[in-house]
Amino acid sequence: MSSRTVIRGGLVVTASDEIHADVLIEDGRIAALAASGTPAAEAWSAERTIDATGKYVIPGGVDAHTHMELPFGGTFASDTFETGTRAAAWGGTTTIVDFAVQSVGHSLREGLDAWHAKAEGNCAIDYGFHMIVSDVNQETLKEMDLLVEEGVTSFKQFMAYPGVFYSDDGQILRAMQRSAENGGLIMMHAENGIAIDVLVEQALARGETDPRYHGEVRKALLEAEATHRAIKLAQVAGAPLYVVHVSAMEAVAELARARDEGLNVFGETCPQYLFLSTDNLAEPDFEGSKYVCSTPLRPKEHQAKLWQGLRTNDLQVVSTDHCPFCFVGQKELGRGDFSKIPNGLPGVENRMDLLHQAVVDGHISRRRWIEIACATPARMFGMYPKKGTIAPGADADVVIYDPHAEQIISAETHHMNVDYSAYEGKRLTGRVETVLSRGELVITEREYTGHAGHGTYTPRSTCQYLT
Ligand code: URP
Ligand code: ZN
Ligand code: ZN
Ligand code: ZN
Repeated sequence: MSSRTVIRGGLVVTASDEIHADVLIEDGRIAALAASGTPAAEAWSAERTIDATGKYVIPGGVDAHTHMELPFGGTFASDTFETGTRAAAWGGTTTIVDFAVQSVGHSLREGLDAWHAKAEGNCAIDYGFHMIVSDVNQETLKEMDLLVEEGVTSFKQFMAYPGVFYSDDGQILRAMQRSAENGGLIMMHAENGIAIDVLVEQALARGETDPRYHGEVRKALLEAEATHRAIKLAQVAGAPLYVVHVSAMEAVAELARARDEGLNVFGETCPQYLFLSTDNLAEPDFEGSKYVCSTPLRPKEHQAKLWQGLRTNDLQVVSTDHCPFCFVGQKELGRGDFSKIPNGLPGVENRMDLLHQAVVDGHISRRRWIEIACATPARMFGMYPKKGTIAPGADADVVIYDPHAEQIISAETHHMNVDYSAYEGKRLTGRVETVLSRGELVITEREYTGHAGHGTYTPRSTCQYLT
């Protein structure tokens, strides 16, 4: 039996268009769009009609960088796939791509199976996986081919965290050479972790133990150096490169230069780098620990360069790097030693709203909002046009967005499983009202109407963003 929904009277905003149109949804997919008030649209009948007058009708957000339940520093990120995907839905995100982890000494397959087991049956929205490669060897390289074939088409490597996730330049080059052959995309955590560890040791020896020193030792220059090195290694391998969580303006400059040379080099930044700064890391009474993540927050002057990069397409994607740790009992592990503070910030629920605020504030256009938060992440990671747009044939992942509603972000009202908000007290204009995932109502006029297990695994094709 077919089920039909019509969304009437909204402004449909995609990466390419803004049109006053009604949207017909049939059996979980977008069936048609027609200009509102025209006979074509009026002729549609449906079991359910949603009035979107005065609202935006936008594609569900695609957050290509989350870490539900990530093991880190002796603890686990506090959102499970159940709580984290529910919070994502509240914030207008309908697809996440999370990072499965290969532990050293284990296969990629073992890591991927473990992440499937965590996610399956628990997600409110659709999900896919990248693979963190921590142990590059002949077996791992062969496994990369198999993973690409089955829809895990992107692999994260770390130039940071020696002894944990770290790969040396030779391992990175080998993985890049493999991805040049199999179509995979290497995602790079670009920080010179070997040099940073020296600076950490020296800072602690001087008694510099507060959270703010996390930002001082993880220098912008060491992000830029690693970004430059990753670009050159990718160039040697003939592989595309996607640099994750870019925070330093010097790293943006490296990406811009490489792109001017015509290389397939891409950059992602995150809301925390656009809206927060080292001022937050310096908050007294260990409050700064709430803002410890890597790459670290930077001084405010970096923000303008990140916004500029997003406007000029030197940066293509805004993801959250959602990796929450509670202040009580988790961030507190690093009292007296900033290097023991688990790295990561919550944000999966806030991304679409914060980027809408950036539209209100004039940093980006409405269409660019959808491009960097929905369409490009879907393209970059092989899910377009199923995800990331509103067009006939696409999954009916749709958000009704009220651009005039006012809200104040707070841990008291958010849905992420974490005891603080990195944006506590921030006033925003705009709010998610209703969310559909494959035609099913997940949020209905600010009530949760979804369920764990609705979200299905989304295998992905290779990158659709190459020049
Ligand atoms: O601090 C962060 N970003 N934590 C998550 C792991 C990573 O490097 O993305
Ligand atoms: Zn990282
Ligand atoms: Zn991350
Ligand atoms: Zn369902």
